[in-house]
Amino acid sequence: RYEITQREATAEILPGVRTPLWTYEGAFPGPTIESRRGRPITVTHRNELPVPTVVHLHGGRTPAPSDGYPTDLVLPEGWPDAHVTHTGPGGPGHGMHDPQAVLTRLTRDYTFPLDQRPALLWYHDHRMDFTAPAIWRGLAGLHIVRDDAEDSLGLPAGRRELPLMIADRAFAADGSLDYPALDPALRRRPGVREAYLAGVLGDVILVNGAPWPVHEVDAARYRLRILNASNARHYELEAVSDDGRLLDLVQIGADQGLLTAPVTHRLLPIAPAERYDVIIDFKGVPVGSRVRLLNRLGSGRTREVMAFRIARRASDDSRIPRTLSTDLPIWRRSDAVRVRDFSFRAGQMHGGHGWLIGGEPFDPARTDVTTHLGDVEIWRLVADVHHPIHLHLVGFRVLSRSGRPPLPHDAGLKDTVSLRPAESVEIITRFDGYRGRYLFHCHNAEHEDMGMMANIEII
Ligand code: C2O
Ligand code: CU
Ligand code: CU
Repeated sequence: RYEITQREATAEILPGVRTPLWTYEGAFPGPTIESRRGRPITVTHRNELPVPTVVHLHGGRTPAPSDGYPTDLVLPEGWPDAHVTHTGPGGPGHGMHDPQAVLTRLTRDYTFPLDQRPALLWYHDHRMDFTAPAIWRGLAGLHIVRDDAEDSLGLPAGRRELPLMIADRAFAADGSLDYPALDPALRRRPGVREAYLAGVLGDVILVNGAPWPVHEVDAARYRLRILNASNARHYELEAVSDDGRLLDLVQIGADQGLLTAPVTHRLLPIAPAERYDVIIDFKGVPVGSRVRLLNRLGSGRTREVMAFRIARRASDDSRIPRTLSTDLPIWRRSDAVRVRDFSFRAGQMHGGHGWLIGGEPFDPARTDVTTHLGDVEIWRLVADVHHPIHLHLVGFRVLSRSGRPPLPHDAGLKDTVSLRPAESVEIITRFDGYRGRYLFHCHNAEHEDMGMMANIEII
């Protein structure tokens, strides 16, 4: 049982200035929850923020009432019920009514069975039309699910296991977070609307809430559990030593836990909301020198993510087993009972620009997909620009990219897939676990707020 209070707080993120934040428990990122597979937990969230909130456990196999549906809001004290209408970036008067919404006042219990593969999950706000600014202001935290099988593999652990939440932010001169849509006056400035439409980028890269941190390490193997918690920024990560050597990034896991066998990368693309579980070996890097984690897609300071300083020689009894797991679901094309097509494209909504799935902006009152518990389906996703597509409840496998085999980093069980410009990606999954109303959406958080989300009803 956990209790988390959502409240305003300030933190010194940039030296010498305080940044006002919206937080879980006063901290950004929020407290990391560690749980064991199959041991249910309840998290009581208490909303002391000035706005309604709702929490989603991203990657969780969660019954629908606790999945954080975007209209299942926890209203702060004094917030009138009548003002729950949605007036987000879709424009004032968007005003959709969701007859199924379950409102609570001040607190809500979220129950997670955690009957799922061990993995790095994360929790974040999911309020309809306002998810992007809420995450930007600090409403995100990690949740690690473990089990005995994974613990016994001999992977780097303890101090040598590092969860890394990477998120870019922009700051005003007074230290406050700069977000274009917070100030309606700003949105009328040329370019701001366009920047918002594409997804908001920051010029400061934070890792676990700190700008460009330098972390001291042993000359040994480390397990980096990387989450891209950025609203819209994509990364292609590489690890470069001071003498210009590229270190191997040995991927052992994906969004939904361990791969069958490790996959070695030199360059690791990571889209918003994706997670990669990676082993890096600092042995052989001279003590006193550094290994920098760089983003090949960035420029100037956004090329840098963080650095590791090799502080000392050390013994290392960790290992990377050749077989990491044997329980990955394998669905064949012939298992699928249906194939669905979805386009992810820009379009008009409520009289303005938005982002649409199959030509429609999100409407909580419309069921977009109805499927039966246990059905295996193939989904073909087609993009105009880059869209990281996320399914709630289920993990999936990537079958193909534009008719070609998946890329090396598509291995394993995923819950978010990076759909690249003009690409068509096939995924396969089985809708099992729980019946009820779930979501799929683009995890460019601004795209999500501007309509790129749809309902899945599992019956
Ligand atoms: Cu990370 Cu629907 O969310
Ligand atoms: Cu999710
Ligand atoms: Cu998108």
